[in-house]
Amino acid sequence: MKENWTMPSLKEAKQRTKKQAVIEKSLFNIPSEVKDIGYGKKYYLRTYGCQANERDGETIAGILEALHFTSCDTPEEADLILLNTCAIRQNAEDKVLGELGSLKRLRKTNPDLLFGLCGCLAQEEAVVKTILEKYPHVDLVFGTHNIHRLPHLLYQAMMSREKTIEVFSKEGEVVENLPVKRFGTHKAWVNIMYGCDKFCAYCIVPYTRGKERSRQAEDILDEIHTLIDEGFKEVTLLGQNVNSYGKDLKIEGGFAYLLEEVAKTNIPRIRFVTSHPWDFSDEMIDVIAKYENIMPFIHLPVQSGNDEILKIMGRRYNAKEYMTLFNKLKSKVKNAAFSTDIIVGFPNETHEQFLDTIKLVDECQFDNAFTFIYSPRVGTPAAAMQDNVPMEVKEERLQILMQHTNHWAKVKNEAYLGKVIKVLVDGPSKKNKNVFSGHSETNKLVNFTGENIQVGDIVDVKITNTKSWSLDGEAIKVS
Ligand code: SAH
Ligand code: SF4
Ligand code: F3S
Repeated sequence: MKENWTMPSLKEAKQRTKKQAVIEKSLFNIPSEVKDIGYGKKYYLRTYGCQANERDGETIAGILEALHFTSCDTPEEADLILLNTCAIRQNAEDKVLGELGSLKRLRKTNPDLLFGLCGCLAQEEAVVKTILEKYPHVDLVFGTHNIHRLPHLLYQAMMSREKTIEVFSKEGEVVENLPVKRFGTHKAWVNIMYGCDKFCAYCIVPYTRGKERSRQAEDILDEIHTLIDEGFKEVTLLGQNVNSYGKDLKIEGGFAYLLEEVAKTNIPRIRFVTSHPWDFSDEMIDVIAKYENIMPFIHLPVQSGNDEILKIMGRRYNAKEYMTLFNKLKSKVKNAAFSTDIIVGFPNETHEQFLDTIKLVDECQFDNAFTFIYSPRVGTPAAAMQDNVPMEVKEERLQILMQHTNHWAKVKNEAYLGKVIKVLVDGPSKKNKNVFSGHSETNKLVNFTGENIQVGDIVDVKITNTKSWSLDGEAIKVS
């Protein structure tokens, strides 16, 4: 270990204090000797994982372009390769390590190539140790709390050609005024808070992202006003649990207040992820129901339908409470669609407990479900539990679960046949310029025919055919 490295520490990452996070408005800076280091150089950035990581990727790209790097589409062309990683399940980790291994060959043809790794995997003590041992070609490792330090770290790695590692494991601050390169033209991600304090027994996120800390409402609204001025039509408000928004800053009304303020900006479409069922307030439901520009689509991860498993997972609700919330949302928010996340094969899950999940899925009839086999993550309480469920059984449960979730996805889509719905246009199809794709208010993928249609238009589309994962239709008119 070099003295000037800052290695991740699981012990520190676990800590939480009552101290309020500092909002840093001028922490980011580009020293004069660094400002041109990207001239003539290309970067290849690949992001894995959730929307929070996608949004971090936009910040990283923004910083690199502020340093005059230009982006490229293949790692072969790059002078700098950055993998912005995810640690949520073992397969996410394996994918990145596999990619790191296979990209190593590029060093032979380009000895000056710089390899960097950032994102959630960089926050993991055990992973960084593995990288040091087995992937010596990695030159730069920085964590999710170190993004604003990228100009300094790149300078160090490029000029000294010394391996550079800086991963803070602190609870985290809120760093404002970072550059951003938006990857979308009409849909944008907006962070409203960072981190997570829920510590669900299986989950690594509270260790990789630090404590829950909210941005100030004014900063969020300023960002949204800028996006509106730039022609954006949709914002997705991001947080690991948006329902906790503002609790740390003691903002009265919390997420309900923020959501209402965002609705009043009149941006055509507002989405938000993720809502934890535990603290979904009635005020929030009322705001969602009241404003037409808040999309009637709710991602409400349930994880399991069994009370004992939910308790061990530390989810703080039982199946009945989940159903009560679900039904309340369904009755108050007109034509709402729902998606969820489900884990099968949590340690020692019995067949009967698994069947409770199936029962809940059949009751809720989700429009969409993200289904996972439980994956032990080093440092989480669940990873230390003995597990008597063989992998074949977990795989079988996943198959059974997916038969149910796929069935409901298809049934829910069938109900759209013949209806006219509003679609925000993402773009023309690659094969046929008169075929477009976009998303409905309820987040359904819609492929449709039409003329004189631009990306970013909101179009009325009549649905003529339905499939499990998409709808087909014809545009009626541009509204
Ligand atoms: N903050 C979000 C979830 C972020 S992670 C929330 O609480 O809803 C996205 C999903 O990954 C989780 O909802 C969970 O279903 C799944 N997940 C998280 N950790 C996992 C693990 N160790 N194994 C399998 N799935 C996991
Ligand atoms: Fe993970 Fe639970 Fe936090 Fe979601 S709420 S990020 S599942 S710990
Ligand atoms: Fe993955 Fe980190 Fe997101 S672990 S899911 S990239 S918060």
